[in-house]
Amino acid sequence: MILLSPGPVVVDEEILLAQAKEMITHRSEEFSQLYGHLIERMKSYLPAEQAFIFTGSGTLGIEALILNSVKKEEKMLVLSNGEFGNRLAETASVYTNVQVEKLPAGKGWNLERAKEHIDNSDAQFFAIVHNETGYAVRNHIKEICSYAKSKGKYVLVDAVSAWPGTPINLDGYGVDFYVTGSQKGPGAPPGVALLWISKAGWERIESMESIPSIYCNLKKHKARYDKSKQTPNTPAVTIFYALKKSFELMDARGGIEQEVIRQKEISEYVRKRLKEMNFELIAEEGFESYTLTAFRADNAGEIKKKLWEKYKIKIVGCKGEFKENGLRIAHMGNFRKSEINIVLDLLPLVRG
Ligand SMILES: Cc1ncc(COP(=O)(O)O)c(C=O)c1O
Repeated sequence: MILLSPGPVVVDEEILLAQAKEMITHRSEEFSQLYGHLIERMKSYLPAEQAFIFTGSGTLGIEALILNSVKKEEKMLVLSNGEFGNRLAETASVYTNVQVEKLPAGKGWNLERAKEHIDNSDAQFFAIVHNETGYAVRNHIKEICSYAKSKGKYVLVDAVSAWPGTPINLDGYGVDFYVTGSQKGPGAPPGVALLWISKAGWERIESMESIPSIYCNLKKHKARYDKSKQTPNTPAVTIFYALKKSFELMDARGGIEQEVIRQKEISEYVRKRLKEMNFELIAEEGFESYTLTAFRADNAGEIKKKLWEKYKIKIVGCKGEFKENGLRIAHMGNFRKSEINIVLDLLPLVRG
């Protein structure tokens, strides 16, 4: 099988095998070493005041960051350009008042488009998706988040399909809360969310009087980490092993800077090949994702079906407006160019 879905992504054999170990308890010295090591690696890739690994999917990580930092009576401005931006707004609306501004499918947010919404908003919080997975659109978060930050807002970014293949640096981008999932860019199995929090973000959390969750209470996570480099509750130990191997493979490839270059190059390659076949790309020029590519195909369902039934290749459709006539090829994590070439070579045969 060739798996080119935008998560779970293909998991390297070395990563899969890294999980096949005798079970340890999360109250053991071995676990403390494992978790401590992962947090140190996360902070070396993306310097932050605090970093945590949460057992649960990306959505849990997003929800945890929101519920630990916003107050019910406050406001959050969410800029959305697709399914995941809408979900971010929906999640936030459980905990605070949300104002959501939307762009048409395929369009990306840049500062020019975002500025008036930020200027006209009295929200204390600002949130955006780094890479809108539904249409493979990369928002220009550096300029937008720095601006929102300069206006005194706390800034939260859903990077579930962005990290580590898309440039980011919390302080330089004005980001306080950043989160991804193990099953996407990290190239590990699904099961944990990776969270990074800036100094200002952590001070905000520390100042919160009440946090409406036991499991997601980040103060409890920090207290347990400080005490013993452990988690308050039972974590998905095997995924922690997998993640350690993912990081080792990433380091062996040249580390985080190389990861961004590798992602950028493969995305340019996939777009070039698709354009040569006269497929129309969905992402607006200048906003193309580094980690996956979406393109129009009137018979998307048929193409997907043929690729799966004849060749056991899994690609997925787009979300929202392009659900019926858009396809996505993911090239994140430990993607294999040879497999991407197979699907690109087959597209003329299956497009009908
Ligand atoms: C940008 C974005 N946000 C959030 C999610 C939800 O992540 P999860 O399914 O890990 O909860 C996804 C999943 O595809 C995503 O791409």
